[in-house]
Amino acid sequence: MPIIFEESTRCFHLSNDRISYILRLAAGAYPLHLYWGRRVRTVSDDLLSRLCPYTDESFSLHETPLDLLPQECPVMGGGDLREGMLAVRHGDGTAALDLRYAGHTILDGKPALPGLPCARGEGAQTLLLTLRDAQSGLTVELAHTIYADTDIVARSARIVNGGTSPLVLERALSACVDFEKADFSLLTLSGAWARERQIATRPLVQGDQGVSTTRGASSVQTSPFLALLAPGANETQGDVYAMALCYSGSFAASVQVDQHGMARAQLGIQPVDFAWTLEPGASFQTPEAYLCYSPEGLGGMSRQLHTLVHAHITTGPYARTNRPLLINNWEATYFGFDEEKLLSLAKTAHDVGIDLFVLDDGWFGHRDSDNSSLGDWVDDLRKLPHGLSGLSEKIHALGMKFGLWVEPEMISPDSDLYRAHPDWCIHAGNRMRIESRHQLVLDLSRQDVRDYIVDAISAALRRGNVDYVKWDMNRNINMWGSEALPAARQKELGHRYILGLYDIMRRVIAQFPDVLFESCAGGGGRFDLGLMCLMPQAWCSDDTDAWMRCRIQYATSLVFPPSTMGAHVSAVPNHQTGRISPLETRAAVAMGGTYGYELDLGKLPREELETIARLNERVKAMQTVLLYGTFYRLRSPFEGNECAFMSVSPDRREAVVTHVHALAQPNTKPALLRLAGLDPALDYRDEETGRVYGGDELMYHGIAPKLPLGDYTATQFHLLAL
Ligand code: DGJ
Repeated sequence: MPIIFEESTRCFHLSNDRISYILRLAAGAYPLHLYWGRRVRTVSDDLLSRLCPYTDESFSLHETPLDLLPQECPVMGGGDLREGMLAVRHGDGTAALDLRYAGHTILDGKPALPGLPCARGEGAQTLLLTLRDAQSGLTVELAHTIYADTDIVARSARIVNGGTSPLVLERALSACVDFEKADFSLLTLSGAWARERQIATRPLVQGDQGVSTTRGASSVQTSPFLALLAPGANETQGDVYAMALCYSGSFAASVQVDQHGMARAQLGIQPVDFAWTLEPGASFQTPEAYLCYSPEGLGGMSRQLHTLVHAHITTGPYARTNRPLLINNWEATYFGFDEEKLLSLAKTAHDVGIDLFVLDDGWFGHRDSDNSSLGDWVDDLRKLPHGLSGLSEKIHALGMKFGLWVEPEMISPDSDLYRAHPDWCIHAGNRMRIESRHQLVLDLSRQDVRDYIVDAISAALRRGNVDYVKWDMNRNINMWGSEALPAARQKELGHRYILGLYDIMRRVIAQFPDVLFESCAGGGGRFDLGLMCLMPQAWCSDDTDAWMRCRIQYATSLVFPPSTMGAHVSAVPNHQTGRISPLETRAAVAMGGTYGYELDLGKLPREELETIARLNERVKAMQTVLLYGTFYRLRSPFEGNECAFMSVSPDRREAVVTHVHALAQPNTKPALLRLAGLDPALDYRDEETGRVYGGDELMYHGIAPKLPLGDYTATQFHLLAL
């Protein structure tokens, strides 16, 4: 049984074959966090009394012991003066809370969360622990799910107003873990447009630290994720404790180190500018957070998270299959295309073995630049004289699939939609509406707006008879305000927007069950587990430069497997950096994600097209292991001049190793690359060179990557067991 309640000690012990997660009810009432780490069989009296020194008799809230104890669901307004998961404002203006145990249930599987995406619960078990504040009638149902196939504990909370007067939820985080000590390094992901998800690490210090956004999106600036590395932990070894949130809106991930050197890690919806009124009987569901413990460093952490994503998060017809190789016209044409140009691009793409043609921004309204037409999802007959349907028919006739870009959440002030419904965007009364990329954001808290979007987008996708959709979102939200919400509920808008987003996505996806959906947000601005529950891949970054992509994809792989990362070969000089890197390197890096192209093939010499045709055959042969293999990071582009990673098939008979060398240095020997995850007893042949190596030699001694002359070179090994 993965979850056991021990009556005698009042402990809940969640475990699988490898990890344990233990809570205890102090004085029968207050859930304390006792242990999280490698599996333990039992909890000794010593541990119980050290971490939970209060018996029913000695426990007295008047002494505020909660401030000193590691808690499972700390609240603001009680005896614990650290930052808590929950804060409530009662009708009389006070904020005190005293949550005590009121019951529990243990279930097989895992209940879905109303309105929110979440991981599925195959093979899992869930503890539902109910806590109650007797004075107000507020109850909190804490859900803890433990998986058998991955070392993850999923946590969320449902808050119910079981009282008779309304109350306001001012803070509703998803998870909190108290650590007895704080000698950790904190790792987070930070960045910017075209520089998404760069690794940032620093030691914890007393006080508050963390990352958060108030932009209405999980954002390019940071990610809803943190990892705590114990002393000595690195990529391959040591204890790592990580938290990741299944949510696409503003979030906060924080670690507070207190006066006694205890560290409290918390994750959830951003409390700043958040509040939610709960009428009697109403409830609020927090998003789900995933807690991952790995004794095998960051590499082990990522492999657990990747298993979570593949086994329990991604869904749809492409979640576990190979993806079509695509060509997207964005960097080839930007807004300047017509049907003839698109067809010639598609024809060349088809000739070199590309499966899917994606028409990006600019096909609707009169959108010749980014300053108009969002919201007017009608075909621009100047560019597409036979409309989307005519173009799609011709692409299909070539034997290719057809894909379409949309940006459903937005409205251009220069659009028929805006002229008809100026009140439909997010805005604060009569205040100035601050545009970004010349656009405003539709108010997804409104049912009428959501219905319009679902109808208009579905009609376009139907007209285009599409096989693939790129769902973009190119700005963050400012000047918050909704005409549809009363003054007292304006602080609900951020979360209501995200609930509305999930609603429209679900309704559109449900109408196109065979279509591959890719999310995008001005590059990788909403690369989060929430959207990954709905769409199995996301555009990783608008930066398609091979070396920059090494860094972005390397850091993204901390949480996400290659099957989720949109990655394309683009033109040189690269449009974002001006850098020139060889075609083979651009391809090797794009093979670290869902592979595609984003350049004008018509401008390439014949030899390069022949190379592309060969590369496409190679990707198709290796794609299953590239996308779904067990992933190992071998060399970090954040630490030097190289980047290397590899994927190994579950039976360890196939592996693909990629090594990228940034700046050439004269008169140097390549450092041996020690591989990982192979079977030491097997021999492997490299399909490129025909050379044979022992799995043991490859892992314990290493292999020398080639270092051809020139900058930004790549070597790939495709290893097949003999
Ligand atoms: C931002 C995306 O990341 C790009 O790939 C492209 O689709 C543009 N938007 C189009 O406006």
